[in-house]
Amino acid sequence: MDTIGTHSQSAGEALTELNAPSWVRHEGLKRWVARIAELAQPDAIHWCDGSEQEAEQLCRKLEAAGTLRRLNPQKRPNSWLAWSDPEDVARVEDRTFICSEREEDAGPTNNWVAPAEMRSTLAGLFRGCMRGRTLYVVPFSMGPLGSPIAQIGVELTDSPYVVVNMRLMTRMGRRVYDVLGEDGFFVPCVHSVGKPLASGQIDVAWPCNSVKYIVHYPETREIWSFGSGYGGNALLGKKCLALRIASTMGRDEGWLAEHMLILGVTSPEGRKMHVAAAFPSACGKTNFAMLIPPPELKGWSVTTIGDDIAWIKPGKDGALYAINPEAGYFGVAPGTGYSTNPNCMDALRENVIFTNVALTDDGDVWWEGMGPEPEHCLDWQGRDWTPGCGRKAAHPNARFTVAADQNPVIDPAWDDPAGVRIDAFVFGGRRSDTVPLVTEARDWVEGVYMAATMGSQTTAAAAGAQGVVRRDPFAMLPFCGYDMKRYFDHWLKLGAKFEGSGVRLPSIYCVNWFQTDDAGRFLWPGFGDNMRVLEWMFRRVEGKAGATESLFGMVPRYQDLDWQGLDFSQPDFDRITRIDPDAWRSELASHSQWFEQLGSPLPTPLLDVHAKLVAQLG
Ligand code: OXD
Ligand code: MN
Repeated sequence: MDTIGTHSQSAGEALTELNAPSWVRHEGLKRWVARIAELAQPDAIHWCDGSEQEAEQLCRKLEAAGTLRRLNPQKRPNSWLAWSDPEDVARVEDRTFICSEREEDAGPTNNWVAPAEMRSTLAGLFRGCMRGRTLYVVPFSMGPLGSPIAQIGVELTDSPYVVVNMRLMTRMGRRVYDVLGEDGFFVPCVHSVGKPLASGQIDVAWPCNSVKYIVHYPETREIWSFGSGYGGNALLGKKCLALRIASTMGRDEGWLAEHMLILGVTSPEGRKMHVAAAFPSACGKTNFAMLIPPPELKGWSVTTIGDDIAWIKPGKDGALYAINPEAGYFGVAPGTGYSTNPNCMDALRENVIFTNVALTDDGDVWWEGMGPEPEHCLDWQGRDWTPGCGRKAAHPNARFTVAADQNPVIDPAWDDPAGVRIDAFVFGGRRSDTVPLVTEARDWVEGVYMAATMGSQTTAAAAGAQGVVRRDPFAMLPFCGYDMKRYFDHWLKLGAKFEGSGVRLPSIYCVNWFQTDDAGRFLWPGFGDNMRVLEWMFRRVEGKAGATESLFGMVPRYQDLDWQGLDFSQPDFDRITRIDPDAWRSELASHSQWFEQLGSPLPTPLLDVHAKLVAQLG
């Protein structure tokens, strides 16, 4: 391990006492670390170098603290299991704040508090909050180091669990300082589990605080997080930086930070196209990003660039280029298995951190949907579990953290600093009816309308009424760092820039894999068979596939899809691609209500599309 600066804090200490290693040459960064250390009063400061050795040491420290358990090395080499506090298991959207100077800049869909008020609240919470703990300085790059699309962040955290996860999820470590130099820009991210330790006090396995704040200051590009050690609340490069702060950067600088997977699809002729696709959580994003085409569709293949987030910028040629800002996957484990996502299961063979899955008697992991049930295991709270006991063994939001390069179908360009050229955008929700399997927007504005109105039906697993459609525009509702109306406008303006440029805009598609029959069974097989829809999109982009007009864009006819190897009847296909006029009258009325909720001014082109659709339906 490289230099580790350790010292006791007292107000007003000289900078040199931070013991910052010589490879950190950024004085502004050192001053900031000193300021935070003075506030939070950690016992020690550790400057992370990102090395293997450092990670191993931290995992051992976490093992000694009871946070991590080493899995059976024969079954799951170099892998660990964490069980969180049962109160700290997911992102806390009601405790997530966008503290822009003006409330209207956060918009009606974000929680807002005035920055000065929030700063004073946080100053109170952070004072002394790291006592008895170590402050880790975690430098990371979102995106390939040095890419013109990438951004650097530095997270100060008192959670070694966060450090080892950040090492898998981002390009983390000493190399980041080479890019940062003496005065490079970075997004400062401050995180504490909010559980100071008195002298001699024994720590708990998963420290956290019942008071939680996940705070973003979009104008000054700062992130502060208090009270949670879990996922997007604590791994601040992901939702906080790569979406909420980056979406604001993108608005100001003319690019896009999106909640999208990126995949490459290659045809039998060896031509390749890239697709960026937005789906709300729990719609099979990771499965789509790692899709295995049915064997009958010979010669088609899908490769993964990213599974959750895309940063997209116009390149010198005017086309849109995307990178995956992350370097790992923080995926939902339940529902992932060899029958649904074999590529993902292969990625999880070794070097994984699992959180809140079950522990089998032979020291491996298990979760619902992974495969055959074990006769006995310990559930995510360490309680005995047997089949039929009436409880889930894994928490529904249990996760795996794994480096992206373990994905067997990783795209060769996934780490290319230039990014990949985007040919199509896909927007999908979870709807049991109304929204067709796939439609193609006739133009950019119609595509933005489709994305702005996409939604998902609540399932039995979610609190509240079942079957209610919750709008989740662009799958960005919890992740947009500014007012949604301006975000729509940003998309519209980006499209308008292409007009007359001679550069082809990506096509936009709306998909819905989730229509059900009268008995509630899914009509569309999904998973690998989604390749049939991808193939149609590919051929449309090439100008080679047919389609017919519908109310909500161009829709494939039965003969436009490749049915080799799948027995899917024309009546079923007609059912999942038809526009039911009555259902769409209600749907459009619901779009109006949604727009009202967003307030005004809503971009006129979207209102125009709405008026046109209403008129068309009659
Ligand atoms: C995620 C999410 O964790 O979208 O990626 O909730
Ligand atoms: Mn996500």
